[in-house]
Order: sequence, then structure tokens, then C-alpha cells
Amino acid sequence: MAIGVGKGGRLFNLHTKDSTYQMYADEYGILLHTYYGRRIDEENLSDLIFHADVGFSGNPPEAVGDRTYSLDCLPQELPSDGVGDYRESCVALLHKDGSMAADYRFEGYELMDSSYKVAGMPSLYDNEEEKGETLVITMREKVSHVVVRLLYGVFEQENVITRSVQVENYGENEIVLSKCLSCCLDFQYGEYDLITFVGRHTLERSPERNRVGRTKLEIGSLRGTSSHQYNPAMILCAPEATEDFGDCYGLCLVYSSNFTACAQKDQRGQTRVLMGIQPNHFSFLLKKGEVFDAPQVILSYSDSGLAKLSHQYHKILREHMCRGKYQCAKRPVLLNNWEATYFDFNKEKLISLGEQAAELGIEMLVLDDGWFGKRDDDNSGLGDWFANEKKLGSSLKELGDRIHALGMKFGLWFEPEMISENSNLYRTHPDWAFMIPGREPNRARNQLVLDMSRDDVREYLLERMTDILEHAPIDYVKWDVNRSLCDIYSHKYAGNRNGEVYHRFILGVYDLLEHLLERFPDILLEGCSGGGGRFDAAMLYYSPQIWCSDNTDAVNRLYIQYGTSFFYPISSMGAHVSAVPNHQTARITSFRTRGHVALSGSFGYELDLNKITDEEREMVKEQIAEFHKYHSLIHEGTYYRITPPGGRFCAWEFVDEKKDHALQTLVMTSAEGNPLPVHTIVKGLSPDKDYHCSANNQIHSGRTWMGAGLTLSAIPGEYESVLIEWNAMGKK
Ligand code: GLA
Repeated sequence: MAIGVGKGGRLFNLHTKDSTYQMYADEYGILLHTYYGRRIDEENLSDLIFHADVGFSGNPPEAVGDRTYSLDCLPQELPSDGVGDYRESCVALLHKDGSMAADYRFEGYELMDSSYKVAGMPSLYDNEEEKGETLVITMREKVSHVVVRLLYGVFEQENVITRSVQVENYGENEIVLSKCLSCCLDFQYGEYDLITFVGRHTLERSPERNRVGRTKLEIGSLRGTSSHQYNPAMILCAPEATEDFGDCYGLCLVYSSNFTACAQKDQRGQTRVLMGIQPNHFSFLLKKGEVFDAPQVILSYSDSGLAKLSHQYHKILREHMCRGKYQCAKRPVLLNNWEATYFDFNKEKLISLGEQAAELGIEMLVLDDGWFGKRDDDNSGLGDWFANEKKLGSSLKELGDRIHALGMKFGLWFEPEMISENSNLYRTHPDWAFMIPGREPNRARNQLVLDMSRDDVREYLLERMTDILEHAPIDYVKWDVNRSLCDIYSHKYAGNRNGEVYHRFILGVYDLLEHLLERFPDILLEGCSGGGGRFDAAMLYYSPQIWCSDNTDAVNRLYIQYGTSFFYPISSMGAHVSAVPNHQTARITSFRTRGHVALSGSFGYELDLNKITDEEREMVKEQIAEFHKYHSLIHEGTYYRITPPGGRFCAWEFVDEKKDHALQTLVMTSAEGNPLPVHTIVKGLSPDKDYHCSANNQIHSGRTWMGAGLTLSAIPGEYESVLIEWNAMGKK
């Protein structure tokens, strides 16, 4: 059993292969968090807690007379709110009488031999190789009729523990949930850094590392999506932690909407880390018998650095979050027409692109924005999901059939959650768009947002999408969302329930995605939000690949894909070769380098094949051959960050499970006169096997390669790249 229960049902040890998470319900029913770290034995560690009389930190009624017992100082799983723990709380309540106290005490527990599910939202699921175990701890609010169930999942072999929270009102009075975070992690001792992944549109997920102190470090989103600006995943680690060394704790939220995540030291130097739904613009009314489910947080611990932590996340997300036909299967190499044509296309142009693509070995043509309604630019048409046959010069069926006849698959772009004011849908249903009565709404990309919490809106979208997908041969859908939400007001939840709408919006999105996939299980879905604005674990449940960024510049992509790799599998990152000068940065890089960078993702092209040279056409063929050759190594292998971007060169590596093959990609990012040698390190080989290296034709043991590294015999020019292979002898 991965979950150990002792001390009369009050001591809980969650064991994974290499870690232990421990809790203890003390004599007053406070659920103490006593340990999370390297795997240990099942011994009660509540004696690690140092009790002291701390000025201005009071004592709960049970402890009267004992000034050393204070909620304000104890490490806890579910901190109380408004009753003496002055640190940030997790689950806050507004009672009928206007008071706001919440004081949770241990009541009991339950064990299950499978993973728990979170109602209406994605969560890690069991597969044939590994089933999770679940511990449910019930905490009762002292006075009101509210119970909070703390859900813990354990994936022992994956070194993963999950957390979620369920709040139930079983009393007669309505209660307002004014905050419901999914996870509190208290660390009594130690110094920590917090690594967050921050950015903006076209430059998503750059790691930012800060020391945790008494000044709160906090990230979050209020945009209704997980956002380009702050990704809902972060790492708490020892200040000395590197790729290969030190304690690291990952927290990854399975949620695609407003979130908060923070870390802060308290007055005694203890660190509290929290993650969950953003409390701003949130409140949820719970009537008698109603239950609120908070999204799952995936925790993972590594005792040996960031690389191991990433490996654990890649594996759990690929094997227990991504689903469907394309979860692990090879995805078709695609050509997307967006940067090739933008809105300016018709059947002839698309077929000509398809013919060129088929000849070169590309396997799918994706028709991006502009095929529906009246949409020749981004100012109109969203919501009118009817093919514009006049513009196309054919039906989607005819076009799809022509593409299929070329031996290719056919994909289509949608942006279901949005509506243009200049659309028939808006003219018919203006109340379907978010807008606060009496206020002029904010427009972004000149579009408004549909109220996805409404059943009628979702029914319309499902009907439209089903009709399109049923009547044309479509193998792939790119699901986009191209603005941040605001001006939230739902006619359905008018009055005091509008605080529920951001959350109900994303539940609506999940519901529509689920229905669509139920109906079309074989369709490959690619998530997108102006590139990577909704790149999160929850979306991976529906779309095993997500367009990583609208920025296709190979050098900017080094940063974006590097940052994305800390949590998300390589197979999940949509990456395309595009034209130069690059449309976002105007930078010129070689065709080879663009290919090498895009190969380390879900590979494709996004340029006008009619405009490339003969030499480049040959390179497309070579790149596709490389994609097929290295596909399983890149998508299923173990990934190592070798050097971060920003130095003289950037390199990363893949090693197969048996450690017979390794592939390193190295991109030079600067040039200099009288250059110094380029020396790179090698990781993940088997010390006792001998390997041949393609770069210098030398054979050494894995131990030697990993100890001494490799010096390139020639120095690549600026923005040039090389692929270097190590093959175990006899395994080539
Ligand atoms: C977003 C996407 C792009 C493209 C456009 C179409 O920006 O990220 O790839 O689909 O929308 O409008």
C-alpha cells in the first residue's frame, strides 16, 4: 500500500517510490502537515514541530492555558480562516449572519484503491500499468454545517501525489464559498527558491527564479484562461538546486482559468505555498446539499534536481492525463496555412499547398482561420460556424475529399468560445455574449466572449461543430481562444451568483470538449490560445498537443520550448517551421535550424511551399525523414536540458529508455571572431556501455562521455545548429 494509516487512524503517510508526505491529526483535530520529502519510515514526525509562546499569535479555545499552541504557527493541511491563523487561508466561507470564520477539524478518513475524479474537470486517471490510490480526509467546520473533504491521490511509481478539495454544505442555510484553493503546503524548515514561468503573448513561459522571503511571491491569472503571462505550474526548490542536484517540489494545477499560486515565509521563517482558483472575482453559493469541487494539483518531489522533476511530470502527464488515439501515437506532420496565406485563400490555393505538401511527405493540411461566416479579417464572423463556400469555391467536403485524395489528412480551425459583433449569431443572440448591462464592453481583437456557462450556447456550438465534422472528412481540429475575458456577466447567473461565472465558463468549455470528443473520438485536437495562452495540464486531457506559441522564430522558440519543458511533455508542444524573415521577429535563421528546433515538439510547417527554393524542398524531405527516424526518441525518450538559452549556444538531449540512443540538438546563438571551442556535456547514457558519437566519430564508454563531454570539431555559425547522435555499440 502506498498509503499508510497509523496512530488510531490519525497518522497518514503517502509513499511514492522516492518520497513521503505525512500528516497527523492532533488531539484538537488540527490536521498537521509534518513532512514532505525523501522517502522515510512511518514514524510520527509531529515532534519536529517546535511549540513556543509566540507574541500576538493567540490560542484556540481547546488550548486555553497552553500559550505554546497557536494555529498561527502550526504547519497545516487545511488552514483555518479568521480564527487565529493570520497567514493566507485556503477555504473561506461567508455565513448567513455575515461572519466569515472557518475552523476545520479532523473527522475521519476513507481509502480507495483507485484514483479519485474531480467532477466536471480533468484529473489524472488510472491506466493499465498503474492505478492510483486515494485517501479522503473529512474535515468538519466547527460551527456551520460545512464539511471539507481533502482528496489525496498517490501514483507510487511516478513519484506523484495529487490534491483536491471538495466543500459540501449540509445545513439549511445557504453559504457563500468566497475562496477555495486546492492545496496548502507548509514547510517548517529550510530556505527555498520559487521558480515560476512568466511571459506574454509570443514569449510564453520563461522561468523566473526568486528567493522565498517574507514578502509574498505570487502569480496568477484573472483572464479567464490560464494565460500567456503566468503558467499555472511552479517549482519550490533548495537555493542550491540545479538540473541534477537538490530538493525540488513541483506544483501543477489542472485548471485552465483564473488561478493563484504563491509562496511566503511567515514570522517564524516557515514557508507556506498555496495554489488554486483565483479568489478575486470568485464566490460560489452553496445551498443545502450542494458540493463544490476544486481543481486538482499535481505534486511531485525530486531529491536530485530539476531534470528528474521534469521527467516525472512528462511521464505522468503523457500517461495519465493525455488521452485518446493520439495520446502516444505518432501525429501527422502538418502544414498549417495561417502564416502561408492568413485570410487570403480559396480552394485552388489550398489544393496547390496540399499538392506541394503531399509531394514532400507532409501528412496533413490544416485550414486555419477564415473558412466560415464572413471572415476576411479578424473583425467579423466568429460564431457563424457555417463554411463560406463562396470564398472557398467549394464545400468543405469537396475540399477535404481533394486533400484526402492526395493521401493527406485534413484539419480545421475553430474558435468556439468567441463571438464577433458583426456576425449573424450576435445579431440573433446578443445576450449570449458577456457584457455587463449598462456598461460598454472591452473588445480585444475586436471580439467578444460567449457565455459558455449557458447550456443553450454550448448546445448551439456542439450542433454546429458536429454538423461540420460529420459532413466533411476532418481528422484534426485546432481549438483556439484569442482574447482574455472580462466584463463578466451572465444572464443565467444574474444577481449574487455572478462570482461563479468564470468557473462555470471553464466548466462549460470542458463540457463542450468532452461531448465533442465523445462524438468524434478519433479526431486529433490541438489546443491553442493565441499560441500558448492556455497551455496547461487540464487542456492536455482533451488535446495531446497545444500550439506552443504564435512566435515561430527559431531563436525565440529556444526560450519558449525550454520554459515549457519543465512541466509539459515534448510531444505536447506544437512546433512549426515557418518562413524567414520571421513574421514575428523579422529574424533570419537557416532552414536547417528552424527544422531542428521544430523537431523537438509536435512537428509541422507553416509557410507557403510555393515560395521555397528547390534546396529547401529537399530539406523538407530530409527533415521529415529525420522526424520519422527520431520520433520515438524525441516523443517517448527522456529529455534533458543541457544548457539554458541565453548563452553562446543552447542544447538539449533525448535518450531512449534502453539508453542505446541519444540525440542532442545544439543551436549556436551568437558568433564571435577568433572563437573558443564549443564543448558540450552529455547526460543520461549508461556508464558501462560504449557509444559511438556522430559528431567526432569517437567511441567512449558512457561514463567517459558523461564525465568528459564532447568538443565539436567545427564551430557552427550564428543561428546554425547540429544534431549529434550517440549510439551504443552494436545497436546502431
Ligand atoms: C491565433 C493562433 C494562430 C492562428 C490565428 C488565427 O493567433 O495562435 O495560430 O490560428 O489565431 O486567427
